[in-house]
Amino acid sequence: MIKSSRGCCGAEELAEVKEAFEYGYFGLAYKTSEFEKEVAKFLGTDRYVITTNTGTNALHLALDSIGIGPGDEVIMPSFTFVATAQVVEMCGATPVFCEADPVTFLIDIEDCKKRITERTKAIIPVHYAGRPCDMDALLEIKEEYGIRIVEDAAHAFGTYYKGKKIGSFGDITCFSFDSIKVMTCGEGGAIVTDDTAFDDLARKKRLLGIDRKSMHVKDWKKRSWVYDVPTLGYRYHMSNINAAIGLAQIRKVDTFIERRREICHIYDAELRNLSGIEIMPDEYDTITPFMYVIRVKKGKRNELKDFLMEHDIESGISYIPCHHFSLFKRQEDLPVTDLIYEEVLCLPLHYELSDDDVREVCRWVKEFLAK
Ligand SMILES: Cc1ncc(COP(=O)(O)O)c(C=O)c1O
Repeated sequence: MIKSSRGCCGAEELAEVKEAFEYGYFGLAYKTSEFEKEVAKFLGTDRYVITTNTGTNALHLALDSIGIGPGDEVIMPSFTFVATAQVVEMCGATPVFCEADPVTFLIDIEDCKKRITERTKAIIPVHYAGRPCDMDALLEIKEEYGIRIVEDAAHAFGTYYKGKKIGSFGDITCFSFDSIKVMTCGEGGAIVTDDTAFDDLARKKRLLGIDRKSMHVKDWKKRSWVYDVPTLGYRYHMSNINAAIGLAQIRKVDTFIERRREICHIYDAELRNLSGIEIMPDEYDTITPFMYVIRVKKGKRNELKDFLMEHDIESGISYIPCHHFSLFKRQEDLPVTDLIYEEVLCLPLHYELSDDDVREVCRWVKEFLAK
């Protein structure tokens, strides 16, 4: 079976985890802060990095720390993983879904603007499949309306926007390091910002509101036992074990990204100009490709997906738009998003795919189109 995605961990991760085992305390500890420094270094920034136990909780912590609550609205594309919308619900606020751009599948800025009301407190653009959203336009909206921009960059660790890595500029950026992301901590996430007050609050909130600066210190004798709890908080910190995995992975992440780009180039060369499918207009060399996305025309997407599965090839449909779920059914129709959903298909993309695997996938796609 050619899997559509998978994580890639080995001896380096085991060696780091062994050290974390030997330390004997597995919660928030020194590897967590070491990993935060490495994330900042990779992004080329001196911004604050606050790691969390999942990308979902990074988003929730971000919204909670900017004060999103009941009565507030948060605009986001419906075409995203449901985590983006659930975190707004978790705050007791209302997700407002907007359209995706018909070509890039990224947030449609004009449609987003039309949905701004006096209740809008934040926008969550999603860097879908690793492509960057129009950050200039979004940051203009922030300036003009005073609306916070909380980027869902779960797919975009390493993606460049106009020469700068996502997370090295902007307002608040949230990453995911779950099992199938470009690099993994097993499970994990991170928030990156230059907002000092936000950092101060979110860092407390991620561990039950506890205010104790010495938490990361490796030498137990230097850890203070006294702490205050000035705010409501959650149990969202990244453990020393997950950070250990992340430390080994981040040393390899450029290799992971490079291989993903190579695979996308093979797909592009094989699948360009075929009748019945369309490839995406991506510049893979400046993004971190998280999924290789094609559009399948004439209502044949499900048929192609089934055909590939018959030939031991897994593909994915990312995503079922959020406004299709019963929880969010109150939202009106979004025709562009609905069409994207009808056509989208994600072909296998992960570090361990061989060139032959990729050509095998393309061979069966072509066989299907020739039927
Ligand atoms: C777009 C998007 N946002 C948020 C998340 C949530 O990240 P995590 O799985 O780390 O909670 C994901 C995970 O797949 C995602 O794809």
